Amino acid sequence: MIRPILIHPDPRLKKVCAPVDDISDALRTLADDMFETMYDAPGIGLAGPQIGVMHRVIVMDCKREDTDPSRPIAMFNPRVVASSDETNVYEEGCLSIPEQYAEVTRPKVVDVEWMDVDGALQTETFDGLWATCVQHEIDHLEGKLFIDYLKPLKRQMITRKMQKLKREMARG
Ligand code: NI
Repeated sequence: MIRPILIHPDPRLKKVCAPVDDISDALRTLADDMFETMYDAPGIGLAGPQIGVMHRVIVMDCKREDTDPSRPIAMFNPRVVASSDETNVYEEGCLSIPEQYAEVTRPKVVDVEWMDVDGALQTETFDGLWATCVQHEIDHLEGKLFIDYLKPLKRQMITRKMQKLKREMARG
């Protein structure tokens, strides 16, 4: 089921999310809904709070080209356990901040630990776009958006654009 995506500014996008306890069918259904919502948008990552679910769950699929094989990953309670000193700059966007993009600097390589849909603990090293994406999504679980890395003026400009967009959407 495709869920509506919250648009910034929204207080739910600024909150720290609660950990998930045990994997359940409800959580597996949630992950399926999040994949469906993400692919429909379309996007390469989605975090719980973006659909109003205040738990530590993210989904990602960072294939670059349509011809690349799909690699959907759902993570519960993901955390970065190591990051490289070397950094990378990517022009980031966010499904909760539509059509706004800005360069963000982050560690180039990160080791991430998470619980998968079967409740098994996983660890993997992510590089490049995958590394940026997983850090961006984990930030969402801390109530942090990519625009929080920008200078205040730029952030305010984007926020005003989003407020205007939300007013237009409310009018229909
Ligand atoms: Ni985002």
